[in-house]
Amino acid sequence: MSTDDVFVVPDDAVPGPGRMTRVEAFGERVMIANIDDAYFAVSDTCTHEDASLSHGALKTANRQVTCPLHGSRFCLVTGAALDEPAELPLTVYTAHFSDSRLTLHRRK
Ligand code: FES
Repeated sequence: MSTDDVFVVPDDAVPGPGRMTRVEAFGERVMIANIDDAYFAVSDTCTHEDASLSHGALKTANRQVTCPLHGSRFCLVTGAALDEPAELPLTVYTAHFSDSRLTLHRRK
């Protein structure tokens, strides 16, 4: 795995429980969510139009985020668009927390 495949999240961008943040990584904006200290990372830009999902609503119980513009929901585990108007899935990254450090990894 090359270093281009790993992004170390700055400490001040690591979200607290029930929160979302946004970072620039892998040439795009990536949204990071913390659900009960489990981290999820997906493309931050909605696949319908140019809306930032980190400004949407995090549904912790079902691991989903709702787009702030037209309300499509996305699964944070698979990236799937769960309802219209968005149809295409988000890119999903693997988030790994160890030694007090959160890293994001590109999936092959
Ligand atoms: S911009 Fe996200 S649903 Fe339209």
